[in-house]
Amino acid sequence: MKARVAPGGGRRLVIAIDGPSGAGKSTAGRALARRLGYLFLDTGAMYRALGLKALRAGVPLDAEAALAELARTTRIELAGSGDVVSLDGEDVSGAIRTREVSAAASRVSVHPSVRRVMVAHQQEMGRAGGVVLDGRDVGTVVFPHADVKFYVDADPRRRAERRHAELAAAGTASDVDAIEREIRARDHADSTRSDSPLTRAPGAVYLDTTGLAPEEVVQRMAAIVEERLRA
Ligand code: DC
Repeated sequence: MKARVAPGGGRRLVIAIDGPSGAGKSTAGRALARRLGYLFLDTGAMYRALGLKALRAGVPLDAEAALAELARTTRIELAGSGDVVSLDGEDVSGAIRTREVSAAASRVSVHPSVRRVMVAHQQEMGRAGGVVLDGRDVGTVVFPHADVKFYVDADPRRRAERRHAELAAAGTASDVDAIEREIRARDHADSTRSDSPLTRAPGAVYLDTTGLAPEEVVQRMAAIVEERLRA
C-alpha cells in the first residue's frame, strides 16, 4: 500500500510491526501510534479474543471448521489506543492476557480458515491508513505493501522477564523459567506453522530490543517513520 493523502492533507501511513511475543512490539506500537495520532491495532489481541471465546464455548482448539465459524460470528473490536478489546460487546482486555489464553491464541491461529477471517478484518480496519498494526504476519500477509515495516526481536530470557513483570503487575505470580519455556514453545509454533509463519518480511527494519528501554525503541521507530515521511 502506498502512502495515502488524508482529507486533511497529511500522509497517513500503514506501519507494520512483527516479531515474537514479549519483544516489546505492542508497547512500542501503541506509543508510536499515539505520537503520530494513528490508530493502533494489536492483531494478537484478536487471536486471543477468539481463543478465549473458544475456551468458554468448549470448542476444541483443533476443530478448524468450528473455529472459523466462531470467528465469522464473533464481534471483536479494538478501541481506545488498542488497549481495550471487546468480545461481542464485553470488555475482555484483562481476560485475554492469561497464560491459558496465550496458549489458546497460538493454537487457534494455526488454522488457515481462521486466519482468513482475521486478516480480512484487519485489512478492513487498516485500509484508510494512519495505522500501526502489530502481529506476526502484518508485513508479510496483511499489508505486504505497508509503508514502513519493523521486525522487533529480543533475547528469549529478556522477553520472559518482561512477561513475568507484566503478570506480576497484574497481580499474577509466575515462574520466569516456566514463562521462558512457554515463550520458546510458542515461538517455535508461530514460526514453523505452514500458514503465515512468523518471519522477517522483505524490507523490514530489524530492531533488537534486548538492551533497549521502551522509550528508546519508540524513538528509533519514530526516527525511521519521520525519515520515510520526508522522503
Ligand atoms: O502477540 P500476542 O502474543 O498477543 O499473540 C497471540 C498469539 O496470536 C500468538 O501465539 C501468535 C498469534 N498471532 C498470529 O498468529 N498472527 C498475528 N498477526 C498476531 C498474533
